[in-house]
Amino acid sequence: MTLESDTESTAPADREEPSEKLVTTGSEWWRSAVIYQVYPRSFADSTGDGVGDLTGITNRLPALAELGVDAVWLSPFFRSPQKDAGYDVSDYCDVDPLFGTLEDFDRMLAAAHETGLKVIADMVPNHTSDQHEWFQAALAAPEGSPERDRYLFRDGKGKNGNLPPNNWESVFGGSMWTRITNPDGSPGQWYLHIFDTSQPDLNWRNPWVREQFHDILRFWLDRGVDGFRVDVAHGMIKDPAFPDYTPPTEAGSMGGTAIDHDGVLTSMAVPEETPDPPYWAQPEVHQIWREWHEVLAEYEGDRVLCAEAWVDPLEKMALWVRPDEMSQAFNFDYMFTDWSAPAQRRVIDRSISAFAGVGAPSTWVLSNHDVVRHASRLALTTENPQGAGIGPKSAGQPDRVLGLRRARAATSLMLALPGSSYVYQGEELGLPEVIDLPDSARQDPTWFRTHGEKYGRDGCRVPIPWEAHKPAYGFNSTGNSWLPQPDDWAPYARDSQDGVPGSTLELYRSALRLRREHGLGTGTIEWVTGYGAEVVAFRNGDITVIANTGEVAVELPVGDIVLSSESITGGALPADTTVWIAD
Ligand code: NOJ
Repeated sequence: MTLESDTESTAPADREEPSEKLVTTGSEWWRSAVIYQVYPRSFADSTGDGVGDLTGITNRLPALAELGVDAVWLSPFFRSPQKDAGYDVSDYCDVDPLFGTLEDFDRMLAAAHETGLKVIADMVPNHTSDQHEWFQAALAAPEGSPERDRYLFRDGKGKNGNLPPNNWESVFGGSMWTRITNPDGSPGQWYLHIFDTSQPDLNWRNPWVREQFHDILRFWLDRGVDGFRVDVAHGMIKDPAFPDYTPPTEAGSMGGTAIDHDGVLTSMAVPEETPDPPYWAQPEVHQIWREWHEVLAEYEGDRVLCAEAWVDPLEKMALWVRPDEMSQAFNFDYMFTDWSAPAQRRVIDRSISAFAGVGAPSTWVLSNHDVVRHASRLALTTENPQGAGIGPKSAGQPDRVLGLRRARAATSLMLALPGSSYVYQGEELGLPEVIDLPDSARQDPTWFRTHGEKYGRDGCRVPIPWEAHKPAYGFNSTGNSWLPQPDDWAPYARDSQDGVPGSTLELYRSALRLRREHGLGTGTIEWVTGYGAEVVAFRNGDITVIANTGEVAVELPVGDIVLSSESITGGALPADTTVWIAD
């Protein structure tokens, strides 16, 4: 096969109109679903080796069905050297032995479907592991070969090519380029890796790469997955000129986002006309999603594609979910919006209208495996860029009580919004970020590549507690844990909260049940005024939601309070509290 060079685009230019046969029906399950993120290595461990696995997930599925979510998204379980916790894939069509086997996956999927849960896999197409056979073949092959053209190899600059091809900086710190040694021992070309050295970027202008991934999608769709979360969906095409680029402000780790002083809209921190970095949001990326959409359309049922696209502003991110592209995109602007009523109202309005502009639902998310858990983040007192994490020496340490109170109020607001919400494992238990992990336990490549300047993301990835008085809090039966669990987590364990009025677990259960009963996910919102600047209030169907982000209590209207993030006495809504009132 003759491969085209990555300097010549093979992708048609972006276009405005979707093809008619691919337009969505408007009634797909994912439009209003609550999707629970399972981080497999930290969810449940059936073997006792200290790392969670697929059988562990199968065993705990009843707890998720009973919580009341609609679907689970599993972070990667594919074969991988685990240099970036599985986001470095060496075989996309196999399960890593750490997590089990393909048969374990099939059993887990069947059990999930039997309990009524959909399952979303996590596809990682921007880069492979450096141990993937494609990359090993590229290293062994000569410059200019088809094997090299599957990745982004370039000559270095300077004397003997000993400087990287440009000044791009890896999201995890350090240069985005690593120089190889040729099979004969001489210094060779450089390859691009947006993330770790062990994660070489693929050349998505190469049709061979595209075809491989269509088959990988079919492999998992044939097994019955209900869709994919797509990693780095904004980064797969690079400016073919590879120009030098210096970000205007400190960028968010996963993308070209910067968070302003209030933690408010990233798009307000960077002027909207700021050009995109030459490795994010290049227009030709959209053709990839049209092709993936067509692959999913070959299958029965509503399969979903959810973009991890760190793109500003929201109106631009909505381009990822046009009717013939992906179905949903994570709403990171919402995630990083400060707990302040004006900012919340603004981001909610803007999200709904940006996504509605292309016929897509908005999504909502407060925590995931890449960010400080919102039970801690919402009480930070200094700016904390995504990826920095919190450690013992970080400034602005969060107050645990205040953080949980705000998190419960924020979640109660989120779950009343129309569209689809994502919940990260452990947030239903009110888990805080683990701040005091010993340095020797840290595993995030960010920690190593920044030489400890950034703590990274380990603090939100600690195995979750199930039973207060069992080894590893019921994560397994041996007490092993790949990241140490804090000594004071017994009160957060699921069994400590089960059936306890006012516990965070019971708050989530009630919110999810009421959301379903009142059709909030498919509703529309109408703002309610009159409670003052620090209050967010809206109606969704027959529910009125009132959230007080300020310090002063506000008077509540008379009505039937069906959900409350804190106990209410005397008809006043205290600070950092959300209520739902039914007509
Ligand atoms: C985003 C994933 O969520 C993150 O965990 C990972 O490190 C990067 N993409 C690279 O795959």
